[in-house]
Amino acid sequence: MSDAPRDRIATLAVHAGHVSSEHLGAAMPPLYQSATFLAADTAELEAINEGRQRGFVYSRIRNPTVLAAEQRLAALEGAESAILFASGMAAVAGALAPFLSAGDEIVTLPDIYGGSIRYFTDILPRQGIGVRWAASIGPEDVAVSIGPKTKLIYAETPTNPLVRVVDLAALAAIAKSAGALLVVDSTLGGPMNQRPLELGTDLVIHSASKYLNGHSDLIVGAVAGRRELTKQVRALQQASGGIIDPFGAWLLMRGMTTYPLRMAQHNRSGLAVAQFLAAHPAVKRVHYPGLADHPDHALACRQMSGFGGLVSFEVADEATARAVVDRARLFGIGPSIGGVESLISQPSNTSHHSVTPARRIEMGIVPELVRLSIGIEDSDDLIADLAQALETKHE
Ligand SMILES: Cc1ncc(COP(=O)(O)O)c(C=O)c1O
Repeated sequence: MSDAPRDRIATLAVHAGHVSSEHLGAAMPPLYQSATFLAADTAELEAINEGRQRGFVYSRIRNPTVLAAEQRLAALEGAESAILFASGMAAVAGALAPFLSAGDEIVTLPDIYGGSIRYFTDILPRQGIGVRWAASIGPEDVAVSIGPKTKLIYAETPTNPLVRVVDLAALAAIAKSAGALLVVDSTLGGPMNQRPLELGTDLVIHSASKYLNGHSDLIVGAVAGRRELTKQVRALQQASGGIIDPFGAWLLMRGMTTYPLRMAQHNRSGLAVAQFLAAHPAVKRVHYPGLADHPDHALACRQMSGFGGLVSFEVADEATARAVVDRARLFGIGPSIGGVESLISQPSNTSHHSVTPARRIEMGIVPELVRLSIGIEDSDDLIADLAQALETKHE
């Protein structure tokens, strides 16, 4: 392959990060499953260590397979650079740590993944870092939460599990005038559906365990953005060690090859399922930004080019929600999202299990809420399965 610039996402997904002539002509990226790389002599080892010569020494610091997957992910995200981590949560921690010291504060939006809530509640305060929770995801509530010690604004969009959409351009303006960084967890939208960096976000986080890998066989996280920032993230990662191993990176590289195709199908089926649920008499409310009555529909139409594969809905009560989950046949009962296979769960015992019941209710994560991760199966089959599951009458 030549090194000609390629800028369409489906092309980048197949080619970015791999130059076959650098790997004995291998059409697909090989796996460098080696901890150590040998130098020809001491002078070469020193040259690589000092960055005067391209090369590899030790896989906690740099590995060719990990680097290839990072380059592909950066290309998809439109970032100068990306760094892979051992999980999405390691990426959240790794994106924040270089920019915060004891005495600093972050402002976070309230609707974020349960694991991030746990990290901000249990871990950051123990490091002397203050966490201010904005009253809502609205930019006005974020603006009034900023204080003199605010170093960073943290948001997730769309949110898990209520699929709210956050106004990234407005948040970027607030962050800029406060001299703070804007860090956005873009796991649910992904680079096909939204472009946070183009809207002024400083660092994008992914749980690449979800849509980017897409095959539910890997836990991996990523941080992407400008090199001046990712350099600091990389330095801390090299020192603290939360890397992905080469095989994990190789799996992600392979998963990303089909990401645009899969995401297009998630988007199509997500909308079809949401429309089916919205018309169903047993469903009280559907949460999906592609529906005209969703509170963020207009913003989603502006900011996103697809609405994704996560759909949540409310039924009469908790017992009915449990019965619907238990009756589903094609949907597996389990946590996570973004895989090829469809999943169903109550967020109260999956994504937000680690959050107190009172906090869940405050967030709108009610016991009668059911979350669907729409896979890439035939959408008619998914809808037929939901139709039979919703026939459940709870005694
Ligand atoms: C939006 C979001 N961010 C971060 C994470 C954490 O990712 P991981 O499970 O890869 O650590 C998840 C996991 O479900 C998530 O849904």
